[in-house]
Amino acid sequence: MSQFEYQNGVMHAEGVALTAIAEQYGTPAYVYSKKTLLDNFDSYANAAAGRDALVCYAMKANSNLAILKLLADRGAGFDIVSGGELLRVVAAGGDAKKVIFSGVGKSVDEMRLALSHDILCFNVESIPELHRLNDVAAGMGKKARVSLRVNPNVDAKTHPYIATGLKANKFGVAFSDALDTYHVASKLPALDVVGIDCHIGSQLLDDAPLLEALDKLIELIDTLHAEGIHLHHLDIGGGLGIDYGDGAPVPVGDYLGRLFKRIDAWRAAKHGGQPVKVIFEPGRSIVGNAGVLLTRVEFIKHGEEKNFCIVDAAMNDMARPAMYQAWMDMQPVVQGGAESAMFDVVGPICESGDWLARDRELAVAPGDLLVMKTAGAYGMTMASNYNTRGRAVELVVDGAQVHVVRQRENPADLFALESTIK
Ligand code: LLP
Repeated sequence: MSQFEYQNGVMHAEGVALTAIAEQYGTPAYVYSKKTLLDNFDSYANAAAGRDALVCYAMKANSNLAILKLLADRGAGFDIVSGGELLRVVAAGGDAKKVIFSGVGKSVDEMRLALSHDILCFNVESIPELHRLNDVAAGMGKKARVSLRVNPNVDAKTHPYIATGLKANKFGVAFSDALDTYHVASKLPALDVVGIDCHIGSQLLDDAPLLEALDKLIELIDTLHAEGIHLHHLDIGGGLGIDYGDGAPVPVGDYLGRLFKRIDAWRAAKHGGQPVKVIFEPGRSIVGNAGVLLTRVEFIKHGEEKNFCIVDAAMNDMARPAMYQAWMDMQPVVQGGAESAMFDVVGPICESGDWLARDRELAVAPGDLLVMKTAGAYGMTMASNYNTRGRAVELVVDGAQVHVVRQRENPADLFALESTIK
């Protein structure tokens, strides 16, 4: 359950009124609930309890050190996509040995860094990447554990920008090339072939495509087994969606229940009982509904065709509406304000694409606070400094306590690395 609810007409984050937070820390602000974050993680951990399973939080969704530390303390592993993310895991006190490294373009330096931290596995996406990793590992006198990201060609039925498992996507090794690629990998001396992975897309409300992908992975594991390549883990990726206010996903426990049931049936029937560790890479479903973006209304403007509610947050703070036409819920912090009307909620940036919500019935007046809900995933991590806007302050609420976990950026911070020339 989300911890962002109205209490006496004022929206709270756990035990703290968002009005008090805005007063003290200013706006725009990202506000996270510790309880919601941990409850979300626990719904995976509990459903996988007693199993050989690892939940590797996809930290691209939200990589604040405080979030990482809370999850690491709960036993999470991490799915990273850059050397920078690995350094964040280490800085947060996470265990590098529970890290898997995804992504199509890992550099030599990133591979070296990851090998020096002895990460759990590289999720490799192409033959050239296999050769590069083999060379780097050999040069260091090490063996790199690898999994191949296969593309199961399953339609995730989600927004085209966040569907990744189709033939036309840049991700993964084509299903039809997977066997050959495994044979290449298994002959490279500095690689240890340990797993198979996929990630078919993001914001999936139904688990049917995920289970279809699972069946494809299982089929490949069997074929490989028959050819003498024995895998130790199966990584089904992330992708389970959240309720942005326009539709609820299948509960995590139901999805994992169905997934483990299939795995049990397969192992009992075919695989001779050989254990296969299951890895998950959830991002959004861990952190999405654990955060909101708090913003204040600057002006109300009545255009010829539309009313605009101009707020102090913008597309640089939250890019999802501009980038994916994402629908995100927007609510007043204090209920029962001005008379309601239809508005487009927009930011101060000089782009027509700078909008946060369109055609919403809202009761708002200048100075009021609005909250964009379910903004914890792919909000702050996709924020930019466009228009030389400092990124928002980030706060974690724990009961009645508020912790600043990232300070608001000052303009001087933004050009500190720059210099002028004559
Ligand atoms: N594993 C891999 C290999 C991924 O590429 C992703 C997300 C995940 C796991 C985590 O997926 P999740 O559980 O969060 O769905 N910026 C977009 C989402 C991009 C997702 C990219 N990959 C958005 O704001 O909707």
